[in-house]
Amino acid sequence: MTIPIGIDCIALAAPQGYLDLTDLAEARGVPPGKYVEGLGVRRMAVAQPWEDPVALAANAASRLLSDPSIDRARIGLCIVGTETAVDHSKPIAAWLHGLLGLPQPARAYDARHACFGGTAGLLTAIDWIASGSARGRTALVVCSDIARYELRSPGEPTQGAGAVALLISERPRLLAIEAGTSGSYSRNVDDFWRPLDRKEALVDGQLSVQCYLDALGGAYSEWKKVAPAGALARRCYHVPYGKMARKAHRHARRIDGLTDQEADDSFAAEVAPSLLLPAEVGNVYTGSLYFAVASLLRAEAAVLEGQRVGLFSYGSGCTAEFFAGRVAEGAAALCAGLDLAQPLSSRRRYSIAEYEAIRAADTQPDHAWRGSGDARPGEFAFVGLEAGARRYLQAR
Ligand code: CAA
Repeated sequence: MTIPIGIDCIALAAPQGYLDLTDLAEARGVPPGKYVEGLGVRRMAVAQPWEDPVALAANAASRLLSDPSIDRARIGLCIVGTETAVDHSKPIAAWLHGLLGLPQPARAYDARHACFGGTAGLLTAIDWIASGSARGRTALVVCSDIARYELRSPGEPTQGAGAVALLISERPRLLAIEAGTSGSYSRNVDDFWRPLDRKEALVDGQLSVQCYLDALGGAYSEWKKVAPAGALARRCYHVPYGKMARKAHRHARRIDGLTDQEADDSFAAEVAPSLLLPAEVGNVYTGSLYFAVASLLRAEAAVLEGQRVGLFSYGSGCTAEFFAGRVAEGAAALCAGLDLAQPLSSRRRYSIAEYEAIRAADTQPDHAWRGSGDARPGEFAFVGLEAGARRYLQAR
């Protein structure tokens, strides 16, 4: 019998503040219904200068490693998926390795392909364990991003920020991934990209929606050919905004032969529980699918133990993968103890003026920043450059 491999533990991190989308709609003269019902977005996390993707990644990973059952000395692989790296050369994984005190005999690097980097990390970690290269060790996969579009652009209401840390191991306590039977899809398209000198993404919004759906169609059809038969109890899709998951579900269920009405009727049961946490933070690029997985497990692990869940990951440009996992027995009790939504519980609602001031500060070069801002005790913060190199500290 093959030993199950997959997600053993999850932890999240988010910036301390968020923008309510009804406030943004009012400021932009847009009916709130367009953002809240039309796009399916409620809140988007807004990152301050000290809450950069390294600090967010370290906060998620340090929360994960605070679980007393996890032995950090057994981590042999650390992969960070990110679309918003802070250096063209040095990976976030290198800072993470130092900030978390990971073992020196470990491989640590970043994986990049728009929003797909986290999934690249997860599937690589699973293969690393399945191949025997892990020699009994575990892998840390972290997805960390700050999604930025230009102010007043159509993409503005679909920003967000956050990080997800996943421990990947044999006999996982949360979700065993069906290795070797995923459906892949790739092609070269210009739907979303970010030139090296820009913090804000460029996007052809409507084309990006179509590319996402085409990629889902391709990956899902391929998955259906190669995966073991059996129904999916739930589906988690990449969530740039809530409505996209609704469109995705309709598209996938059409391939299964359902009418649009039947697909829409199944949405509340099969998809909606995975959208609760994404609706709190907005788009987290590489992390969005795993916020959805955390949301689903938090809401429904008790009824899903032993059942199968489908996962769809999309990276613009583009590449995509559809794969499945089975919720582990005992996952509900573990999730209850993890208190997954805790990092979202005491955030501040920024005014539009505060949000725009934060974004104006974003246009300053990194060397303009000094200090740890309002980082809470135990949280990591970007504190500025020293001799041109980025420095971080853990607030006391
Ligand atoms: N009340 C209720 N609904 C309303 C409304 C109102 N007053 N006004 C409009 N709507 C509805 C529209 O009918 C539409 O619904 P449908 O999609 O179901 O038809 C919805 O609100 C959005 O309206 P528009 O399509 O007119 O919105 P837009 O063109 O201004 O922008 C967007 C939408 C293209 C997604 C834009 O937000 C964008 O460019 N976002 C960034 C790109 C993105 O997220 N792409 C997703 C796929 S790519 C990907 O997934 C990778 C990634 O993470 C970036």
